[in-house]
Amino acid sequence: EKAQIGVTGLAVMGRNLARNFARHGHTVAVHNRSYGRTKELVEEFGHEGTFLPAESAEDFVASLERPRRVVIMVKAGKPTDAVIEEFAPLLEPGDMIIDAGNAHFADTRRREASLKERGLHFVGTGVSGGEEGALHGPSIMPGGSKESYESLGPLLEDIAAKVDGEPCCVHVGPDGAGHFVKMVHNGIEYADMQLIAEAYDLLRQAGGHSPAEIADVFSSWNEGRLGSYLIEITAEVLKQVDAGTGKPFVDIVVDQAEQKGTGRWTVQSALDLGVPVSGIAEAVFARALSGGADVRRAAAGKLPGPAAQTGAGGADLRADVEQALFASKIVAYAQGFQQIQAASAEYGWEIDPGAMAKIWRDGCIIRAKFLDYIKQAYDKDANLQTLLVDDYFLDAVSGAQEAWRRVVALAAQQGIPAPGFASALAYYDGLRAQRLPAALIQGQRDFFGAHTYQRIDKDGSFHTMWGAERNEVGA
Ligand code: 6PG
Repeated sequence: EKAQIGVTGLAVMGRNLARNFARHGHTVAVHNRSYGRTKELVEEFGHEGTFLPAESAEDFVASLERPRRVVIMVKAGKPTDAVIEEFAPLLEPGDMIIDAGNAHFADTRRREASLKERGLHFVGTGVSGGEEGALHGPSIMPGGSKESYESLGPLLEDIAAKVDGEPCCVHVGPDGAGHFVKMVHNGIEYADMQLIAEAYDLLRQAGGHSPAEIADVFSSWNEGRLGSYLIEITAEVLKQVDAGTGKPFVDIVVDQAEQKGTGRWTVQSALDLGVPVSGIAEAVFARALSGGADVRRAAAGKLPGPAAQTGAGGADLRADVEQALFASKIVAYAQGFQQIQAASAEYGWEIDPGAMAKIWRDGCIIRAKFLDYIKQAYDKDANLQTLLVDDYFLDAVSGAQEAWRRVVALAAQQGIPAPGFASALAYYDGLRAQRLPAALIQGQRDFFGAHTYQRIDKDGSFHTMWGAERNEVGA
């Protein structure tokens, strides 16, 4: 008997993916650098399906049907290259290596190109949903060739989460498209988490509510339009009480948010593409600020500012914060989707943004009702310039206007940092503006560097001789 698919790298994500394939009736070859993990998997979970454990890479490859499908689930970077170099020489033309880790899309593009020369398909695949998702149904974002998807897609669709029977898995586009989209998913995840954290902070500091009370607020929001996995788990975390001290769990955790890099990559790519993903960037920088323990220590006691006053937000604070959260979330997603569309154009990926919203509706960390509306927006207009002008979202941000502004003003007045809310609103007002002060910046550039400018009333480029005469000349 041969295996339809193999998984190498059996840490928790790899192990759960292998089990998910086996539970769906596929024979799964399993391999790990140290055989102990492989044995453990088969001993503990062998009853769930058919596993073919292999001690050596050669045996693993030999146990796979052709074309071979080898899923690698190891750390991004050098470990991934090392595993590819271990397996590529053992494979034959038409075989597939599927990298299901969080690789950088540029690495995926490089690997895909180099393996293509050797006749192999390299499929950089985004997988979201954490450990539980990997086991019970993740959202899956495969890149690579169309041809590889024909052979691999059905297996991935089998193990993916389903919404109304439809899999949360689609061929995203060629080479690095899958990993790119997974990266932006994570960037949006950062933004979502930051906005939720700001909402909590406002309710706590300006509203004077306890974590347990705020947990109830989030639970009730979870029943409404904000309904999502991240809102749901936020309520769980806020409800948690530390067993040892009896204090709220959030009060005993060190307030320094860590990051493994995908949010930072999203912003780096956005800078290259020239797409303003300010919501994601603020979220990454807010984590960095929180982690800068030395700077914080040097500044915290010294910098003057107001102490937040309980009740400052008035009786409508909860409803206001819900509006601000929803509107800011719309901005963050609009920015992330714009980045996907820009990258798709830049790299020739032809990504269907509506399909991304569709496969994020379940399985992944940002899963939410909300994504249905994004899908519908792109169904209505595949070339939508920004989600903000779709009817549903336009209606939501219009309705949120006053509350959103009140919340940002309140945060500023009370000295509560809310970079996510504030920058989302600034982005919104920037897009809304008929005229931006960018005209002045053009003037400054022309003044000091003769960088030229364009006029609103004539074609062409112009330069003003900023000396005594200040004559304008065509450039
Ligand atoms: C997912 C998650 C997953 C991982 C995050 C955590 O989609 O399943 O995004 O990929 O948990 O990357 O990222 P940080 O450690 O950077 O917060």
